[in-house]
Amino acid sequence: MRVIETISELRRHLAELRGKGRRVGFVPTMGYLHDGHLSLVRTAKNNGCFPVVMSIFVNPLQFGPQEDFERYPRDLERDRRLAEAAGVDVLFVPSTEEMYPRPIRTRVSVRDVTDRLCGRSRPGHFDGVATVVTKLFQIVQPDQAFFGAKDYQQVQVVRIMTEDLNMPVEIVACPIYREPDGLAMSSRNVYLSPEERKQASVLYEALRDAEERVRNGERKGAVIVQAAREKIASRPLARIDYISLVDADTLEDVESIDKPTLLALAVFFGKTRLIDNTVLIPTTIGR
Ligand code: PAF
Repeated sequence: MRVIETISELRRHLAELRGKGRRVGFVPTMGYLHDGHLSLVRTAKNNGCFPVVMSIFVNPLQFGPQEDFERYPRDLERDRRLAEAAGVDVLFVPSTEEMYPRPIRTRVSVRDVTDRLCGRSRPGHFDGVATVVTKLFQIVQPDQAFFGAKDYQQVQVVRIMTEDLNMPVEIVACPIYREPDGLAMSSRNVYLSPEERKQASVLYEALRDAEERVRNGERKGAVIVQAAREKIASRPLARIDYISLVDADTLEDVESIDKPTLLALAVFFGKTRLIDNTVLIPTTIGR
């Protein structure tokens, strides 16, 4: 695995590797890797991508002033080992100065789909994501890019952006990777105290409960959301940011589950904000 810190060296190296018929796979991350990230690498390799490029860059542009940019977990040595063992071919680890040598004058902003869910709670966050992902796509020029479905809204934003701007990259969304008790893997899970960590499994329980209700014929959005709210609120350390039921494509609020519908939530445990989601699929069974 080659570790590269500068854009010019990465471009040179990829130009040498990018052969006829080769498909460059790209896994953008902010590091502090977990099995969810590594599963994206595996999918890239199973898709026949070569080289598989991973970036590790904690992007200041996507953090609000009161958010955790400074304390975001970082451990490059550990990440380097994990990336190499997973089969990453090129690890791109630019500094902030390399990515933003001067205050950035251009922003990429995706409308509508960013007004809701995390976009409402974290103003400017998705502009920061869309801008850095555009820069990374320009630098790496991947054929396929792999993102985890835990960040469902992020995947939609990136998809819309690539479609609107005719970026020649296929966006591949990969399933959420979970801990044995169901908690979605996230680099931020390390912030949780043992008691917060224990209580945080309620998020998965609430999502599974919603799936079960829909399987049993429940179609009323308000009932599903209220049940999830009550379940999560039963854990004393949980503070709900939002629980929303939205159209799985447009992310617009919906009142009933007549087609695939996203149940998305963001919940604080202490200072740590966790997100999770599931797509509820109505079937005729149980009606
Ligand atoms: O999902 C993340 O880790 C980040 O939002 C991303 C896509 C690497 C952009 O900074």
